[in-house]
Amino acid sequence: MAGHTDNAIVIDAPMDLVWNMTNDVGSWPRLFGEYASAEILEREGPTVRFRLTTHPDEQGRVWSWVSERTPDPGTRTVTARRVETGPFEYMNLRWEYRSLDAGVEMRWMQDFAMKADAHIDDSGMTQHLNTRTRTEMARIKSAVETAARVSSGPEDLFGRRLLLLAGGIRLAWVVYALSEVGVADRLAAGPLPVAELAELTGTHADALRRLLRAAASVGVFVEDDEGRFALTPLAEGLRSDTPESIRMLVRYNGAPTVSGPYQEILHSLRTGEPSCQKVFGMPLWDYLDVNQDAGDFFDETMTSMSARLVPTHLADIRPERFSSFVDVGGGHGAFLAELLRRAPGATGVLFERPKVISGAAPVLEAMEVLDRVTTAPGDFFADPLPADADAYVLRAVLHNWSDDDALAILRRVRAAMSRPDQRLFVLEQVMGPPNVWDHAKFLDVDMLVIFGGVERTLPHWRGLFDGAGFELLTQPATGRWTVLECRPR
Ligand SMILES: C[S@@+](CC[C@H](N)C(=O)[O-])C[C@H]1O[C@@H](n2cnc3c(N)ncnc32)[C@H](O)[C@@H]1O
Repeated sequence: MAGHTDNAIVIDAPMDLVWNMTNDVGSWPRLFGEYASAEILEREGPTVRFRLTTHPDEQGRVWSWVSERTPDPGTRTVTARRVETGPFEYMNLRWEYRSLDAGVEMRWMQDFAMKADAHIDDSGMTQHLNTRTRTEMARIKSAVETAARVSSGPEDLFGRRLLLLAGGIRLAWVVYALSEVGVADRLAAGPLPVAELAELTGTHADALRRLLRAAASVGVFVEDDEGRFALTPLAEGLRSDTPESIRMLVRYNGAPTVSGPYQEILHSLRTGEPSCQKVFGMPLWDYLDVNQDAGDFFDETMTSMSARLVPTHLADIRPERFSSFVDVGGGHGAFLAELLRRAPGATGVLFERPKVISGAAPVLEAMEVLDRVTTAPGDFFADPLPADADAYVLRAVLHNWSDDDALAILRRVRAAMSRPDQRLFVLEQVMGPPNVWDHAKFLDVDMLVIFGGVERTLPHWRGLFDGAGFELLTQPATGRWTVLECRPR
């Protein structure tokens, strides 16, 4: 026996747009409802090898596998296969695109057979794939057709495009303000007239229309013929209830702890020092301690950051290998909780500043790990770290600090370890090559002005690990948050 599916949909958009959007594997988590992440592993000629990780299914199971696909723009066809077949004996796919009067027909065919011991047989899987394919195709059609309607921004590099980039501070404020009042959430169910949207968001209707008009000029939201506004694929990211949401980050960017130091960026540029000190008269951590609201908001932002990349990071860490963890500077413990949920018998210690740790219990309780976590309030420069755990985690901590301080933290973690089988997991960005887009290059400026910290390249990281007595075991990805696994030397 074998299974076969064959589904097609017509998308009312230009061929190039349909082709480019649906073949941009890195953006699939925004395009498909099913995928939480799509990690590009390798490119060879036109062939791309990548890891897909799903959102939890109805039983809470997350699936992750490696696939490979080869698009041929000449014939507008794609051949693909699962490399890690999981419950499948094999799974081969073919996509075909052809121009019709009504748009572009996109056709997906799947040929497969289930393994004898799989949780579902060939006909069950055929039914499942047909249902899922139709849902995903409808979603993709809507995303591509919306994208076809919005402008992608000025293309004149030396004129309007530079104006957009250099004057982007205005766009950032517009998007910040729309995010702060929750416009995208209110549009999740469909387009709304401005007056209604203003009422729902507690804003001034004419001002809201003007901000939305500006944002829609670069594809964030779209205005229809009746003057109603709707979400676009970009605006989707400003909803608060999607795994790909960056709403908290956009709100964080506009908060005084970021906007204040940026207003004094010239001070950092001239001195190399964090302007935070000049603006607040103290390091950020002290400011967060004395300003309860700012502190709570910062911690909440860090907790929300946990959600987006967790499946990929857990797949890299494989927490089930360990029975005890220490998360150093672990915020409210959301990431520690994720580790413990993947390692059912394990226990964890959350080491954090006292003010932050006092807010951890509700997060740990909501994630049902409170009974397995010990909280350890302390200062990682002054207080001893809990010794002899199987695995230590430093997530988004070291980039806040200069090399001297980061080395001091790493050496204290190293001092708490005594066995070669223990592991340190540093979750950070690894800066990519020059002249290409890399969010780390902007985060690095945050680190400069706010903390006096720095984003690091791979050789820079290796130097730090060497200096602290660690050996880096993995070859980390660049251009996104990644896991650097180390062992004590
Ligand atoms: C950028 S946040 C990351 C939080 C958390 N690891 C996460 O990924 O969500 C850095 C954390 O380091 C903590 N931290 C800063 N200075 C510290 C110190 N001296 N001792 C212990 N923790 C500290 C902060 O309170 C903050 O929670």
